[in-house]
Amino acid sequence: MIDRYNRQINYLRVSVTDRCNLRCIYCMPKSTKKFLPQKEILSYEEILRIISLATKIGINKIRITGGEPLIRKDVVSFIERASKIREIKDIGLTTNGVLLKKYAKDLKSAGLKRLNISLDSLNRDKYETITGVDALKEVLEGIKEAERLGFDPIKINIVVMKGINDDEIVDFVKWSKKVPYQIRFIEFMPIGENSKWSRDLFMSREEIKKKIERISKLTSVKIDKSGPAEYFTVENSKGLIGFITPLTTHICQRCNRLRLTADGKLRPCLFSDREIDLKSLIRAGANDSLIREMLVNAVYLKPSGISQNAHPLKAMSMIGG
Ligand code: 5AD
Ligand code: SF4
Repeated sequence: MIDRYNRQINYLRVSVTDRCNLRCIYCMPKSTKKFLPQKEILSYEEILRIISLATKIGINKIRITGGEPLIRKDVVSFIERASKIREIKDIGLTTNGVLLKKYAKDLKSAGLKRLNISLDSLNRDKYETITGVDALKEVLEGIKEAERLGFDPIKINIVVMKGINDDEIVDFVKWSKKVPYQIRFIEFMPIGENSKWSRDLFMSREEIKKKIERISKLTSVKIDKSGPAEYFTVENSKGLIGFITPLTTHICQRCNRLRLTADGKLRPCLFSDREIDLKSLIRAGANDSLIREMLVNAVYLKPSGISQNAHPLKAMSMIGG
């Protein structure tokens, strides 16, 4: 359906767990102890019901996120059930890749098409510094396995932090010459109480681009008009370079999504803590038409864009990015 600002909303991102097997400094530092109790998390049946009803207001694309979705029990069969919902034309998964090697084949058979993998460093020690776990090897093997199985596209997400991994921007660009992935630099966003966000760590798209342009010419390419990323090619490369710039450009104008958090709240905007408590309604016995009405409300509540100085408190691991 079309929202108040003439944007077509056809995409639902679903967080299936707030837990994770990594502890990325910008998301869930080691001190994080608070996780949702099991009963606060939507069951797969509840989520499937919401997705089915969301298709009635025009949702035809979903993405499964977390925390880390692959650590939730039976997530593969959940994805299989979701991909069988007739109106869902496209289903993607965002993962940190640690368990990808193990699950890639089953995910493929379950109907999954698109994979986004978070990878903030290609250096083993730095990877561990950022994520808290020495798992770079597993992630790279998982990505290779996904490529071998024909997942397309494979998108790699790098959250760029000044003084932490900005020295690897050029290494990622060099990597893109050899691998057919879409390598996307994401501006670090101030989200979640735990996030270490500060102006000092923030690096803008312009700064990232300048670093790349010192070694390579970037040529703009137009693909994937529905997503927030803008893409470029680098000479003689198999992959693409992308930028996701929530803070420095007006990607809100093209926003096409709603979010369902792990604790069953519908979230009209990533950058606003305003939510609709679908879980309570469902558990109080709401019928389909009421839930559908709440989905419509969430679309109407979508703001035109990020409000000034927004720093939503809910953790990214619960919202799902
Ligand atoms: N800023 C930018 N990206 C973030 N992610 C998690 N937290 C942040 C943040 N504060 C990214 C993850 C993953 C995606 C779901 O969101 O790295 O790629
Ligand atoms: Fe886990 Fe993703 Fe958060 Fe890292 S960013 S701790 S991989 S949920």
